[in-house]
Amino acid sequence: MKENIMREIIETKKFLFYGGKGGVGKTTMAATTATWLADHGYKTLIVATDPTISLSAIYGQHIGETEITKIGTERNLCGLNINPKKAMGVFQTRLEGMMQGFSTMFGSELLSTPCTEEIAAFDQFVSFFEDTEHDKVVFDTAPTGHTLRELSMPFDWSGYISKQIKNRRELSEALGFVYDEQMVADLELEKARYDRSIKGLSDTSISAVNLVLLPEKLPIEETARAIEDLSGFGINVRSLIINEVIPKEVLQGNWFLERRRATQDKYLKEIEERFSSITRKEVPLLDTDVYGMDILRRVGRGLYGE
Ligand SMILES: Nc1ncnc2c1ncn2[C@@H]1O[C@H](COP(=O)(O)OP(=O)(O)O)[C@@H](O)[C@H]1O
Ligand SMILES: [Mg+2]
Repeated sequence: MKENIMREIIETKKFLFYGGKGGVGKTTMAATTATWLADHGYKTLIVATDPTISLSAIYGQHIGETEITKIGTERNLCGLNINPKKAMGVFQTRLEGMMQGFSTMFGSELLSTPCTEEIAAFDQFVSFFEDTEHDKVVFDTAPTGHTLRELSMPFDWSGYISKQIKNRRELSEALGFVYDEQMVADLELEKARYDRSIKGLSDTSISAVNLVLLPEKLPIEETARAIEDLSGFGINVRSLIINEVIPKEVLQGNWFLERRRATQDKYLKEIEERFSSITRKEVPLLDTDVYGMDILRRVGRGLYGE
């Protein structure tokens, strides 16, 4: 594992996603990365789509839900903490309309409505792909394969149905489906937008999807599933950040820490074997939780260098 690959990733890509299981350190790594980039001269926006105010807590200041907020006295750093519960995007409104249209045709039990919050979060990703204001956009939480699949389903239906409608207008009339040129055109526009963002996510020249995990069983399994799911969409996970590794120098004969570290060693070996093709980097467990510029910079130096 070469030392500077992590740095190369964040310096060469514009859109940086940090995903993983809850509590593994996604917000920490996203904030660390954004801070490092801003310190190194990049105009950086950090976007969180987490209903909690974790970004505000980590930077120790209010960060807006709708207005991009300048962070600290840093010239280059600003943030947005979108509340997906409140962010009713165009995408969501359209999808809901679309689902309604189909359920009157086929009965609602045929279609499961994708998770509202996931849609809202995805809507945000989509709109930021059009960003021209910043050098870097760092996302706290990456879309999962599950999100992408759920979101693609209405479009599969819409493609199928709009074709049916176009080809056999009489049939659709006989079925009692009101043919609506505008609705079909809208669906096609949204489909194009969805396709563009999947393309953006899978475009390795602009995007890097990074997953955070702990050297523990459950995060490893979740990581394996996420990698597989995302690859189904042509999205390759660029790096793994293995967080909270107990530093060897603190063991000092303490049986509890030694046992804990031995467990981590077992999982570190498993991670190395199972994810050998993906760039990996360990972050040590600190003697404190992570918040404020000083600690973020300390973690950043460890991850990306001076
Ligand atoms: N390397 C670390 N050492 C010590 N504490 C950490 C480390 N990484 C994360 N934490 C702490 O773990 C908690 C969870 O991290 P967070 O980034 O909020 O996780 P997530 O966003 O994945 O839910 C936070 O309190 C954070 O300060
Ligand atoms: Mg978080």
